[in-house]
Amino acid sequence: MKIISATWIITCDENSTIIKDGAIVYDDKIIEVDTLLNIQKKYPDAKIEFCSQNSVLMPGLINPHVHLEFSSNTTTLKYGDFMDWLNSVIMNREELTKDISTKYILEKLDFMKKTGTTTIGAISSYSFDLEACVESPINTVFFSEVIGSKPDMIDTLFSDFKSRLNMAKDKKSKNFIPAIAIHSPYSVHPFLIRETLKIAKEEQLAVSTHFLESPQEFDWLHKDEGGFLDFFKNFLGQEKAVTKPMQFLNQFDDIKNLSFTHCVEASIEDLEKIKSLDAVINHCPTSNRLLNNTKLDIDKLIKLDIPFAIGTDGLSSNNSLSMFDELRNALMIHTHKNVVYFSKKLIEAATKNANKALGLNKGEIKNNKDCDIISLVLPNEVKDSKDLYMNIILHTKNVEKTIIGGIDV
Ligand code: BEZ
Ligand code: FE2
Repeated sequence: MKIISATWIITCDENSTIIKDGAIVYDDKIIEVDTLLNIQKKYPDAKIEFCSQNSVLMPGLINPHVHLEFSSNTTTLKYGDFMDWLNSVIMNREELTKDISTKYILEKLDFMKKTGTTTIGAISSYSFDLEACVESPINTVFFSEVIGSKPDMIDTLFSDFKSRLNMAKDKKSKNFIPAIAIHSPYSVHPFLIRETLKIAKEEQLAVSTHFLESPQEFDWLHKDEGGFLDFFKNFLGQEKAVTKPMQFLNQFDDIKNLSFTHCVEASIEDLEKIKSLDAVINHCPTSNRLLNNTKLDIDKLIKLDIPFAIGTDGLSSNNSLSMFDELRNALMIHTHKNVVYFSKKLIEAATKNANKALGLNKGEIKNNKDCDIISLVLPNEVKDSKDLYMNIILHTKNVEKTIIGGIDV
């Protein structure tokens, strides 16, 4: 058992409790959270670790959507238009992934850890990132991804998917959890969707998928036209989308831990269906901005009470894998939201809501939750506790300490 104390504790619990001069008692789980005075009374002989002045303890950040295998991109891929970007990914994916080593990905994961991330949802297309995710202290929900809409490729793609999923299942541990990603409604054949979701249901695996990321995807799925038409004709010899958005969503009934990434072009009906599926929307504001996609209508999600999480996506559509960079961008992009109140929503999105997307026992500082916590230091005193969330987002580059599963990593 250990005890750690800080000027502030942001719990992200159901009452959004904030404790001034607080302390956390923990082993691999959180045992107790209270004021320092109460903890000292209860454990008079215990050694307490004190964080610096103006310190904050909060749940470790959870990034539910990242593509580590594309981490070598900096200046290669085209931004500014979804089709230009997708074509550049297809043109350059071999070059971008050929030298990706476990060591390289571990460096990226170490950066993520230093910038406050304790858990990720890694979308894995090839399993090039498997070893690094297994070795890293960061908790990983490892989403083996299925992709491919061409009917004559289905058998090969399905057996490749199953063998990657089995490799991930072989490595299953407390902090490495296999899961399934379905790339998108436009790129996965209905047979593959049906069969992979069957596995997810039987084995109770979390599922994640990209959904309605671009106007081109909307035009293609709804009307079989727009920028995707030429792409599909030239690349795959297809003139019609393999599925409609609602048909796609209807297949996800009974998946327990479900998330849809982007959803910026989703209709009210789509969003209502997502709500009825009890799913989380992974919002990746920087990725949407760089590909000149639509800005997510956060107010629609709030109105429909759909939880959203914040993801970085990969370095294929971002210049940083820091969740604090992503939170700053989210805060700046949604200009109509009040910075003070929206900051609280964002921190809860990056902890508690992301936990729901991944189906874990994290994201809150509360008895019996996994002890994944970060400590950070604000540059000066915060007088009004309401301003804490905003100041944390504005001022945090690196964290002071990262504790995962009760261990200082
Ligand atoms: C497909 O197989 O349909 C596909 C793959 C990658 C991007 C788009 C479509
Ligand atoms: Fe993505």
